[in-house]
This record gives sequence, structure tokens and C-alpha cells, in this order.
Amino acid sequence: MDAYTAAIDIQGLTKTFHVGFWRKKVQVLKGVDLQVFAGETFGLLGPNGAGKTTTIKTLVGLVRPDQGEVLIMGQSPNNTRNRMQMGYLPELPSVYAYLTAHEFLQLCGSFFNLSPRLIRQRIPQLLDRVQLSESAARKQIRTYSKGMVQRLGFAQALINDPQLLLLDEPMSGLDPLGRHEVKELVLELKREGRTILFNSHVLSDVEAICDRVGIMVDGKIVLTGKMQQLLRPMDHLYHMQIHKLDKLGHTNLKRLSLRCVEHKPGMVEATFNNLEKALKALAVARQSGGELIELKTHYRSLENLFVDEVNKARTQAGDE
Ligand SMILES: Nc1ncnc2c1ncn2[C@@H]1O[C@H](COP(=O)(O)OP(=O)(O)O)[C@@H](O)[C@H]1O
Ligand SMILES: [Mg+2]
Repeated sequence: MDAYTAAIDIQGLTKTFHVGFWRKKVQVLKGVDLQVFAGETFGLLGPNGAGKTTTIKTLVGLVRPDQGEVLIMGQSPNNTRNRMQMGYLPELPSVYAYLTAHEFLQLCGSFFNLSPRLIRQRIPQLLDRVQLSESAARKQIRTYSKGMVQRLGFAQALINDPQLLLLDEPMSGLDPLGRHEVKELVLELKREGRTILFNSHVLSDVEAICDRVGIMVDGKIVLTGKMQQLLRPMDHLYHMQIHKLDKLGHTNLKRLSLRCVEHKPGMVEATFNNLEKALKALAVARQSGGELIELKTHYRSLENLFVDEVNKARTQAGDE
């Protein structure tokens, strides 16, 4: 693979499922285009039912698309050499309840034709990585909590030391501590230079981990972009609270700010889109007796962006 080949290249992907007794057609993917480059951590976001899991499944060959092209490192998803370099954590990892984690990981390793010696070497390292204790790993999986199954799912996704990781909701079912640990783990895998595609509902985690994100709504990607650009400083807003302001001061502040609200007589909150303007307005307000109570900055979070984009896409779809 050369540097210009996308690790994942999806073009014009469509998929229709037939559901229920009457085999009613439901188009789940409506022309998905998506590229993920080598070494990148890409977050796929979208409301429930948007088609994220279906998209990931086409990458591991579990769903065959109706139309469109899917390439992994320039090859078909069924290419065996590529499969050896991929790790997949399903949305609901299914495990053999009556095996121990040790036995399960040995089995997963054998699917990749790894030597028993190598598997034996890797298992303790993986257990350590996902923070599953050695003694727990000797117990049958049916005794595990949901969080432990999720950790084991993560361990099996890493058994072949994959370059490309597909993680479907890796933080789901975990308590805040578990989520924090998984986030640290994903960051560590990212630092090791692996390519990671994952989807998550926890937007603050996505914001902390991803280089780029794509937002999917009703079977289409409606927006992709680098995290820094999507949440660019242009969206920074500065809010200032001033009290003891006279009438003239209020009028001046109104003129200088994007928005100016008088909460109580003499007490106003003004919003600016750059710090210089905010400081200039503060100097003017002081001349009218105003005193600064608070100056805080606020930027558009990924959550705000997500909600805006989903609403926009749905309104447009409704208009068509
Ligand atoms: N095998 C299937 N048969 C029928 N419908 C399916 C199948 N898989 C997914 N769907 C439907 O496709 C839609 C998208 O599902 P999914 O890709 O799981 O969304 P997401 O992961 O974004 O929540 C849902 O409405 C779901 O019910
Ligand atoms: Mg899903």
C-alpha cells in the first residue's frame, strides 16, 4: 500500500434489506462515500439506525452491498492477506459462554493461523492491555459482567496485532471508569500508528480521540471533516457579564456585541466572536461605570455540531 492509498475507501455504497413477513424493502444505505487514511483515527457518528453498523459490516465482508465499491488497502474486503491485518470489535460481541477467556482467545488466534506459542505469548499481554485479570480469564465467560465481555471483545480484536481496527461502539456497556480505560486504550493504539475506524454515541470521547469524523444520517454521510476544522476557533464565542452599567454604556455594548441581553437593570450579558472586540467593549463599558463580573469563552462542541447537522439533514430530506 502506498501513502496515497486510503486504508478504507467506500464509494456509492447502497444496501437494501427485506424485512418482515411481506419482505418489505428498506433501503438502509443510500450511497455512502467514505475514506479513511492510513494512521488516522476516524469517528463515524450518527443517530440510531443511521446505518453505521451496516457500513462497518460491509468492511469485514459480513454484509454484501447492492451497489458501490468497498476497498480495504486497495483490495476487496475478502482478500485474505488484508483480513490478517484487520481487527473487528462487533457491536454486541458474541462469545462462547462455556469457554474461558483464555480458551476463547486461543480459538480466535487459531483463526488467524497464529502458532500456539505466539498465542500463548500474546494472551497475557492482551489481558493486561484490556485490564482483565489472569484469574478472571481462567473462568467461564458466562460468569462475566457486560463490561468484562466488552474487554474480552477488545482483546480478540487485537489478537492478530492488526494494523486496521474497526470498532463498533467500543465504549458501550461500560461504566464511566471502563469508558475512560477504553478511551486510553484507543489513544494508545492510535499512538502506535494503527488506523482506527470507530463509532460511538459518546461524543465527548469522539472529540477527544478522533482526527476526523463523519456524520451519518439515514444512510448517507452528510458531513466529514477534520476535528480541528469542524470545531474551529471561528466558532469561539466570548460571553461577558457586566453590572453597574448606565444607559449609554448599555447602548454602546449593544452596538459592539453580537448579542446583548439585560438580565436586570444595569446587569447585562454580551456575546462577542473575538477576544479583541470583547476587550475593546469592556474598556468602553468601564467608562460608563460598568464592572466586569465574568468573562468566559465558549466554543461549539461536537455535540452542538452533531445535533445541528442531523436536524439539517432531516429537514432537507423532509423538504425533498
Ligand atoms: N440484517 C438486517 N435485516 C433487516 N434490517 C436490518 C438488518 N441490519 C440492519 N437493519 C436495519 O438497518 C437500519 C440501520 O441499522 P444499523 O446499521 O445497525 O444502524 P446504526 O448502527 O447506525 O444504529 C436499522 O433500521 C436496522 O433495523
Ligand atoms: Mg450500530
